[in-house]
Parts: sequence; C-alpha cells; structure tokens
Amino acid sequence: MTTDTQSASALQIIPIKHPQGCRGYLITDPASKEALLLDGHLDLAHDVSTLLASEGLTLRWIVDSHTHADHPSASAILAGHAGATRVAHAKSKHVGVTHMPDDQEPLALGDQAVTVRHAPGHTPDHMVLVAGGALFSGDSLFIGGVARADFLGGDAGQLFDSIHDVMLPLPDETLLYPGHDYKDRVSSTLGGERSDNPWLKIEDRDKFVASLTASKPQEPANMAALLRFNVEGQPMPAFTSAEEAIEIVQHGGAGTIIDVRTDEEVQAIHIPGSRHILMDHILERADEVRMTPAPRLILCKLGQRAAMVQAALAQHGIGGCSVIDGGIVGYAQAGGETAGGDLGAALEGGGCCAAEPPPT
Ligand SMILES: [Fe+2]
Repeated sequence: MTTDTQSASALQIIPIKHPQGCRGYLITDPASKEALLLDGHLDLAHDVSTLLASEGLTLRWIVDSHTHADHPSASAILAGHAGATRVAHAKSKHVGVTHMPDDQEPLALGDQAVTVRHAPGHTPDHMVLVAGGALFSGDSLFIGGVARADFLGGDAGQLFDSIHDVMLPLPDETLLYPGHDYKDRVSSTLGGERSDNPWLKIEDRDKFVASLTASKPQEPANMAALLRFNVEGQPMPAFTSAEEAIEIVQHGGAGTIIDVRTDEEVQAIHIPGSRHILMDHILERADEVRMTPAPRLILCKLGQRAAMVQAALAQHGIGGCSVIDGGIVGYAQAGGETAGGDLGAALEGGGCCAAEPPPT
C-alpha cells in the first residue's frame, strides 16, 4: 500500500493506492480523529487497520462507491471495527450494509461532513462523495477518462448526466480523486479535466453515448466470484475445481493463475497465459500477487504447495487466493489446455473499469 497524505479544507485525505490501479481513500477529520474509508481493497484491509491504529483514528464509515466487479472490497472484513457503519447505495443490495444514504445526505466526521451524491452510469448504484473542496468520483470521471458503462446495468447516458449535472457544476479548483488510475497519478482538478479530458469535450449526450458504447471491453474473468464476495457476502472460494478453472481460462482469465512450481516443471507443462512465481519467492514478489486480479488461482502439481502458498499469503495480509484443486495434473486430466516450453511474459493487470479513449 502506498499513501500520500493530502488535505482538502480541514479534512485530511489519505489516498490508498493498490498496484492494480484501484484507489481507495481515508478521509479524516483531524479534530475528532474520525475517519471514512472509501473503496477499500481487500488486499489492503490489514494495512488500513494498521494505519488507523497508528494514527489513533476511529473508523466511522466504510463506503463502497458502487458494486465492484473488478476487485474484492475490504468493507466486509473491516466492518468489525467498533463504531463503524457500512454504507452503499440502496440499489447495491450488499449483504452487511446497514446504511443506504439518500442523495445529498451528509455523513458526519466530527463537526465536518462528507456529502453523498447519487451518480449512476457506471452502475445504477454508483455514488460520488463531495467533501471540503474535493470530489471522490469513484468509477465515473477519471483523470483524462471516464468509466465504462457496459456491464452490471451500466448506462452511458446516465453517466453523461451524472458527470454534467452532479460533478461539473462544482468549481474548477475542486480536487478530483478517482476510483482508479492506471498511470499512478493521485489527483487532478475539475478545471484541469475540463480543459484536458477528451470525454468532457463531447457536449452532445447522444454523441457521448455513441462513443462510449462503440467498443465493449472484456468483462473481468472472475466477475462472478467477485460479485458473490462483494454483494452476497460469500467467502472467497478456498478451492477452485479444475472444471471451474478451465471455464475461467476460457473466459480470458488465464492471467489470474499463479503457478508456483519450479522452472523445470513449468517448462515441461503449464497453462498458457498464467503467471509464474516460484513458491520460495512468493512473499518477496507480493506486489506481483497483488497485481493479479482476485480471486487468484494458485497452481502447483497437485495442490499441496499451492495450499501452503495460500496460507503464507494470508498471513502476509493477502487474501483472495484460491487453490486449483488437483493442480495442473487435475487441470490437464479435466481437459484444460496446456503447453510446454517458455511461459512468456507475465500479463499486466488492471484497466478493466475505464473506458477506451473516445474515437477521434
Ligand atoms: Fe468499477
């Protein structure tokens, strides 16, 4: 986790950066030491708890800006913090959420407040937060881009309306903190976006909709498991059957597999597109694990080493790892495609919540 404390008015903002490009934020009131966590990532739940303790902060609010389909939320695991309330929009229907705010409702932090705005588009349940001269835009307006609106009930026209009716009326100097940034930027301003963001130059709603729906990026391969976790509150699967793994690979999810066997074993047989991290190197290469979309499918020959890796990562605060039952032997026996020789370059993670740039 990388953080970089900033301030907006009297509230303090601590961006919480995940290597996959996801952005969470701790918004704190220094006077009362109360905090709001927006869009925490499961990988960083332990780090957030540590930060809260070291700063002496009380977690008042745990907010998901929308139903996340690309990463597991930390909200359920952090809900045990005394006095914390889980918040999402009423349309989210997340198990465990106890507060569903109305549009324009303030969430108090000491004598200050963060205002919730319903801003559908990326998903119907999407909310943005406005606080002390800052806009936390979730997956709607990004730095130099906008969110995709083609799955989970997304609507490009609603995204246009939310951006133009809810966000752009805010002053130019408003700091923009998005829910993702895939280029390692922390913030922008609305004025900067007005002048540089190609999507904001499209003033005609129909043209915006046509541009945003011109392409349909691939859906996250593990979306079904992530929705069971984020929405239904089901635990991440500790084991994934060979048949389920084959289906995930067939839907473009080979990059979610981490093969922990030796170089020689991988040379002999592997799953094309999978990522190779030696078992002995798994902790020192933890950031590569974090770069792999969850649930990460851990693969060895039969399953034993993968289970040990899963346990070691969990101790290191990295959850969301599932052992492929029966390992590569079971995968091949079930008819999964395998290959020999070099594995090739590891796949890059991230990018799946943003729309492509508009056609020129
Ligand atoms: Fe999203």
